[in-house]
Amino acid sequence: MANPQINLYYKNVTSAAIGAKDGITPRQLKSLEKKIKPLISQINKQRKAGETPYRDLPYNKQISRRVNKLVKTLRDGCDYLVVLGIGGSALGNIALDTALRPFLPDPSDKQSGRPELFVFDNVDPAQFSSFLEYIKLKMKKTVFNVISKSGRTSETAAQFMIIREKLIDALGKNGYQKRVVATTDAKSGTLRTIADKDELKTLEVPDGVGGRFSVLSAVGLFSAAMCGINISQLLAGARNMDEKVSSTNFRRNPAAINAAINYHFYTNGKPISVMMLYSYALKDMADWYRQLWAESLGKRLDLNKRKVWVGPTPVKALGTTDQHSQVQLYREGPNDKLFTFLQVNNFPKPPKIGPAPACAPELGFLAGKKLSKLLNKEKKATEYALLQDKRPCLTVLFDKVNAYTIGQFIYLYEVTTSLAGALFNINTYNQPAVELGKEATFALMGKTGEYKKNYTYEQFAQDIRAKTNVDVSFLV
Ligand code: PA5
Repeated sequence: MANPQINLYYKNVTSAAIGAKDGITPRQLKSLEKKIKPLISQINKQRKAGETPYRDLPYNKQISRRVNKLVKTLRDGCDYLVVLGIGGSALGNIALDTALRPFLPDPSDKQSGRPELFVFDNVDPAQFSSFLEYIKLKMKKTVFNVISKSGRTSETAAQFMIIREKLIDALGKNGYQKRVVATTDAKSGTLRTIADKDELKTLEVPDGVGGRFSVLSAVGLFSAAMCGINISQLLAGARNMDEKVSSTNFRRNPAAINAAINYHFYTNGKPISVMMLYSYALKDMADWYRQLWAESLGKRLDLNKRKVWVGPTPVKALGTTDQHSQVQLYREGPNDKLFTFLQVNNFPKPPKIGPAPACAPELGFLAGKKLSKLLNKEKKATEYALLQDKRPCLTVLFDKVNAYTIGQFIYLYEVTTSLAGALFNINTYNQPAVELGKEATFALMGKTGEYKKNYTYEQFAQDIRAKTNVDVSFLV
């Protein structure tokens, strides 16, 4: 049987659907094609030159082998898997788990079994302390996967230092070593140093792959494989999408069409990009996409060092829930958004709606229909309503959600991001603006020594306090 697919449907962003004022005219599409074609070749060349190693992750057998080997040794007797990481070291893990394991364990489904996955991508003290209480007698049945490329991210480092102490106290050094897998840079960085010194099992964040492009490396694959997700299908889906998104034929390349459309609307008064998904399984994919899009495309400087302050604002919306929360704004508020719906054609075991109570014959129109039908008709109804107000709508259509189509989706959006970055003429792969907040946290938490030339962390902390300490005269 042929593999299920995802497809990008773009008629409803065109002038034929929403008029020439708001939609893309055939002429505009042609000119977008002209602009993006050389950029497709450019990113293909960059890939060949080894400048975007994320592109080759789906072909890397070594990573899967190493991950599978480790999973084999750790899976038995592991009831709980705890990921400590943040940003690109967590969002993909969460997204894969929500997408590819049932909402609740299904005893008839091998994949839905244990381990239960916890991903801590924050340092909320109340949440973490209640977790520590929960896990304290279960340490022997738990594997901890600390993920940090640098190892100096405060959130991950702090969580890891708590867990490290607890594990050593509860199970001794040997127990600690048995229960921890560190995913980090192959050679350098704080976590690499700790892992080597503490003799921990390790996996690698590949060289040159930033966190938000790393889900198809050991960063995302280990927790997925531990939880029974078919990582070989995930990678196969990504490889399949690679064939499509490498094509220099604009009309056949979904990443090129997607990037071009997003770029067009951003530069034509619609700087907000709403991803509205009609599938619980996909809900955390939108968080993964938000980071990918925001950190990659939100840039002050272009490649010529000109100040451009670009970047579409990615927004997540959940259908149908947000129909009852956001759609009023989406239709009657400013026409400044491009909508991307995620729609799934086939859901596993959709329940049938029961008969209408005799006292409520007006509900008869729902009776006997599948819940999947209702969900997808709601999507169409919302799309129609938005189109009535000339709001541009894209749809990513999933035949079904499985590891193969999720692999396709991830790769589609990663390459879309690369192409959008090329259209904006920015550096897609750095995140200079995130660093200041990270360093400021170090200063406020008491780091000492030189921060920059002739400027210490102590001085830095003073400057931060001057701006952020509460001035009571402004308290009401
Ligand atoms: O995408 C990115 O590069 C970031 O979101 C990082 O993943 C995040 O800041 C965590 O960094 P690290 O893996 O070094 O702890």
